[in-house]
Amino acid sequence: MSEKILVIGANGQIGTELVVALRKIHGPESVIASDINDPGYAIRHSGPYELVNVLDKDNLHHIFEKHRPTQVYLLAAILSAVGEQKPKLAWDLNMTGLIHILDFAVEFKTAKVFWPSSIAVFGPNSPQFHTPQYCVMDPNTVYGFSKLAGERWCEYYFTKYGLDVRSIRYPGLIGWRANPGGGTTDYAVHIFHEALKTGKYTSFLSADTALPMMYMDDAIRATISLMDAPAEQLTIRSSYNLAGISFTPTQLAEEIKKQIPDFEISYAENDPRQAIADSWPKSIDDEYAQRDWGWKLEYDLATMTNDMLTNLKTVI
Ligand code: SER
Repeated sequence: MSEKILVIGANGQIGTELVVALRKIHGPESVIASDINDPGYAIRHSGPYELVNVLDKDNLHHIFEKHRPTQVYLLAAILSAVGEQKPKLAWDLNMTGLIHILDFAVEFKTAKVFWPSSIAVFGPNSPQFHTPQYCVMDPNTVYGFSKLAGERWCEYYFTKYGLDVRSIRYPGLIGWRANPGGGTTDYAVHIFHEALKTGKYTSFLSADTALPMMYMDDAIRATISLMDAPAEQLTIRSSYNLAGISFTPTQLAEEIKKQIPDFEISYAENDPRQAIADSWPKSIDDEYAQRDWGWKLEYDLATMTNDMLTNLKTVI
């Protein structure tokens, strides 16, 4: 069957890379990029594009009617730090947007839906190390509990309507093609830009704040392998834990220094993102992803840092 894939939130950190990867696999015409904002040059000139606001139900319905997608990736969301500044908007966009997509996917018989969850679904009373798939979850950010509620909706639509929804709890994502927008893990991208531009960086997270992170190449590969996995192998319809690589700002700075010896890191105090980071796991257990769809991480801290610096150098 030839695919028609709709990617919503195509201008974002994940969308920018996912559209390129999907267009390579399925051909440019099979992948409709969409976003609330005008696309960047690369996306606009490499295949079809639609302006979409996930809160505008009529417009969204029209897009489903026009393209009848076989797969939808819903990536439009407000992340953790911005979510704390605009809690009601974050809830509305993250929840209502998802429910619109789930409803239209049922109505138009979309074969598969992908929706991203996050390590933010865990909270201060979740185990902090090797956080398991199933445990206490008491997220205290709007972003975190919108993702936890979203996971419940995904599983509900799978059970109740047979909708083939698939999801990953992404760690903090690090890539060179696009910037993150308003998250707590963003320092791990900004640090590379500043290392190359100015040779120094002030981290808004403290020196020893460990968080689970993942290189974008691994994240895109994980997403596509989960979407390609035979449905009967998937035992989780809420969202799969993915471990990635856990490190602190100090450890990342040390790795960068191996290539930029004069690089200097300093630490800001009293940033509101610190409390968010402190409520999240330091490392994750992803045994279900390994077992169900053969997930295997490729990039470690050293190879990720090397790839980031090599590629980022060519674009900034
Ligand atoms: N990376 C996201 C954030 O920091 C979490 O999913 O908000």
